[in-house]
Amino acid sequence: MRCFLAVLALTLGLGCSRGQPKKDPAGSDAPSLRLAVVTDLKGYLEPCGCTSEPLGGIDRLAAQIRALREGPAPVVFLIAGDTFFDTAELEPVRVDQANRNAKTLAGILDELEVDAVLPGRRDRAQPPEALDVLRQGSRGSWLAMETDAEVLQIEAGSLRLAVVGVRPGAERDSVAVVVGPAQAESDLTIALVDGSRRDANRIGAVDGVDFVLHGGLDEDEPIPPHQAGQAWVLHASRQGQGLTIVDVYRKKKKEPFVDRSEWSRSERASQIDRQIEDLSARITAWEKSGDVDAADLEAQRRRLVEMKKERQALDAPTVQTDGNALFATWIPLSKKAPKDRQVEKLMREHDKVVNAANRVAFAGLEPPLLGPDDIAYVGSAACAGCHQTAYAWWRNHAHGVAYLTLQQRNKEYNLDCVGCHVTGYDQPGGSTVTHNLDLALVNVGCESCHGPGAAHAKDAEKVGILRDTPESMCVVCHTPEHSDLFDYDAFRKTIVVPGHGLPPMVR
Ligand code: HEC
Ligand code: HEC
Ligand code: HEC
Ligand code: HEC
Repeated sequence: MRCFLAVLALTLGLGCSRGQPKKDPAGSDAPSLRLAVVTDLKGYLEPCGCTSEPLGGIDRLAAQIRALREGPAPVVFLIAGDTFFDTAELEPVRVDQANRNAKTLAGILDELEVDAVLPGRRDRAQPPEALDVLRQGSRGSWLAMETDAEVLQIEAGSLRLAVVGVRPGAERDSVAVVVGPAQAESDLTIALVDGSRRDANRIGAVDGVDFVLHGGLDEDEPIPPHQAGQAWVLHASRQGQGLTIVDVYRKKKKEPFVDRSEWSRSERASQIDRQIEDLSARITAWEKSGDVDAADLEAQRRRLVEMKKERQALDAPTVQTDGNALFATWIPLSKKAPKDRQVEKLMREHDKVVNAANRVAFAGLEPPLLGPDDIAYVGSAACAGCHQTAYAWWRNHAHGVAYLTLQQRNKEYNLDCVGCHVTGYDQPGGSTVTHNLDLALVNVGCESCHGPGAAHAKDAEKVGILRDTPESMCVVCHTPEHSDLFDYDAFRKTIVVPGHGLPPMVR
């Protein structure tokens, strides 16, 4: 088993910062089963690629799932929370693209033999026709679409699992009524939940539940296993950025599980380290000030000793157990993680289909009309004649090739992308997904920063143009989600260069 994990870690390309399986926690045998957990996928086939360290990709997820299935333990693949859509009420122009995206995703999940999906609130808000199309193409069971709670029985190796889907906002009692008989007939009971922390805890406290998959948090940071009642709550970040793998060692019925995860241990250790540091500093300050009651101070010192004891205990080697145990790891799907080629091919096909469909569907889509005080966009080439050095600089800057970035990926007609990689998008006299004045407005042109320039370009003597560009103009595109490292001063400095904003270099 020890070797196996090491080999698996290699083949999976785990670069996991949250701690990866170092040694078998619960004896030398293989786990009874492995849970592969995804939460809040939200229709993400892959990350946009704009940020410094993009995480995610259904092709990378697929590679992990397939590698797990090669292993000795049976794999149960479960998804909770918004899975196919990231918006409850889609803008009409986006409906077709979002549905097509959801369909591709549903098809891929089906290929990967997902065992159960608990769709989230945004999924459920879609029109029934759209959901029907997706469900027809999904062998994996969507749970609790019609009832408060629904049970799916799964065989995993020698174990019988009750997977209980809980509809968002379901009453605890109606869940307990369903869980009761289901858990009595099975070896392990897993509840799939879409809701708040309180909801997850509420369902975890239902008698007989062993695990809760917590969808609906919509958080980037994956949360290590934590207890709610007798159950362990599992989470795996969002947008397919990573998956949580839980090795389940199920030895005895009706016995609580012990968490042996390095992930939880190291998270708890750093939490206590912070608390110890904090309290030590405060005690020192109190000692100096001299105006804190001696008994109070003594109580705080004792608290500190207790904390240090707990911290030390965490460093002790994990005790072997012959009882029930779980061992969870979070696998970030970074650029280094391997891809499943077959799924990657489906994604690339999908991009082409979306591009082609949008190109036709939006042909003739015009930007808002010019108002009496509006100025139209002309495109960067119209500036080149009078601002040659600026133009030459821009052509080689990232802004000057922003459209190529999309074209290389067959995404230049993709509504999720085009707006920030062109000039004057959806502005009066600007561009749309198809309308760009014969490519004059593609890329992030001069006018993205200096404002629409038709009037200035026509008569520069009479009409001026905005010189400096405030931060507010950049952050329309440089949002935290798409430009994680954006810093106005630092980024601005790199675009104000000789020939553009500074005198040209004289040799
Ligand atoms: C017909 C020539 C001509 C064209 C075309 C032209 N400009 Fe200018 N531009 C000028 C002149 C002349 C000035 C004023 C002198 C100077 O400061 O260099 C100027 C000044 C500017 C300034 C500085 C404004 C200020 O207040 O200091 C910016 C920014 C600018 N232009 C951007 C653009 C952009 C963007 C375009 C294309 C949309 C463009 N220009 C097209 C001739 C032109
Ligand atoms: C219309 C959207 C848009 C606006 C407005 C915009 N940018 Fe950008 N910016 C982009 C895109 C898209 C890229 C990446 C293009 C590529 O590589 O394909 C980018 C890239 C950059 C880069 C290069 C980053 C790197 O890692 O090499 C800098 C620097 C930058 N922008 C600064 C700014 C500043 C400063 C402003 C405001 C004065 C601004 N941008 C306004 C869309 C925009
Ligand atoms: C909200 C605006 C916005 C949207 C929407 C957007 N981008 Fe970007 N993109 C940017 C900005 C800004 C950058 C530059 C980020 C930086 O360097 O900090 C960028 C950079 C990139 C880069 C990196 C370019 C390089 O060579 O380093 C890629 C690739 C990219 N975007 C692709 C996409 C794709 C594909 C989509 C659609 C799925 C998309 N973008 C949607 C704003 C956006
Ligand atoms: C990402 C935003 C951005 C883009 C794109 C951009 N500029 Fe600028 N531009 C600036 C900033 C910032 C300054 C500096 C303003 C200052 O110094 O007050 C500037 C300064 C200028 C100036 C005045 C200083 C000078 O060098 O004479 C001109 C002219 C100019 N830009 C033209 C252009 C032209 C032409 C393009 C397209 C080929 C362009 N800019 C693209 C942001 C941008």
